[in-house]
Amino acid sequence: MSMSTSQSALSIEEQAALVESSKKAAAFQAVEDYLQPTFRHVGIGSGSTVVYVVEAIAQLGTDITSKMTFYPTGEQSRQLILAAGLRLAYIQDLPSNASLDVAFDGADEVDEDLNLIKGGGACLTQEKIVATSAKTFVCVADFRKMSPRLGTNWKKGIPIEVLPMAADRVLGELKAMGSLDPRIRSGLPGKAGPIVTDNGMLIIDAPFAPLLLAKDTESGTKGGNGDDGMWTVDALAHRLISIVGVAEIGLFHGKNGLQVERGAQKPVAVYFGLEDGSVKLMKA
Ligand code: 5RP
Repeated sequence: MSMSTSQSALSIEEQAALVESSKKAAAFQAVEDYLQPTFRHVGIGSGSTVVYVVEAIAQLGTDITSKMTFYPTGEQSRQLILAAGLRLAYIQDLPSNASLDVAFDGADEVDEDLNLIKGGGACLTQEKIVATSAKTFVCVADFRKMSPRLGTNWKKGIPIEVLPMAADRVLGELKAMGSLDPRIRSGLPGKAGPIVTDNGMLIIDAPFAPLLLAKDTESGTKGGNGDDGMWTVDALAHRLISIVGVAEIGLFHGKNGLQVERGAQKPVAVYFGLEDGSVKLMKA
């Protein structure tokens, strides 16, 4: 969903304020609904919407939050947790047989089956580790992220974290798969050369034609296996992660936490802050 006609009549500053207030509304509602006082381990994602998640959590007061530990997905969320006076730990400190009670994170685009594109902030690998470590993954976003099919609004491409030595070969494979002008993410204008992730890797942004859902292929009129350049989310995700040199991909797909006990990539709920100040909830 992009800016509506009435919103585009607003000044740039007014539009920015509207987006901020929609992020805040989504985050506060998600925390109210999904952060139970009995929880002990909470994942905190990356991006500008998650700032409000941490603000909402901090406002619950130390009687509740001092019993909880918070697990970041990168340096930004580590700083947010510390600045809010919350207890910090790292996901590698959580025993492998234990789970986070809940994880909150943003998204770059969300489709109607709650598949996500993530990685606009280059933290996608840590974000997927934290999300899949949680019993319940909850997504928070503003109205611009809502989309019928991934790749409709988010045109920059699917973020893919790759080993530097493999980057050119991965680019070649992506082009052969039908990606429209995949590129290594540049650090410009802030940094000369490419973005280097917290894991010492590069990010490739690979645009594809809007990704199909399984139901789009049921009619038998579209395959979704990449023939003719059309992919379903699941087929593309499986193909991308199998490319040698790819560490992780920014497609969050497959099962959600209601369907499997461990390892779900999809959120059970997405909170969208809308332009009119309300919050739209999409549940799995
Ligand atoms: C970072 C992410 C973010 O969650 C995504 O980019 C959304 O960010 P924002 O809340 O600033 O719109 O995936 O890698």
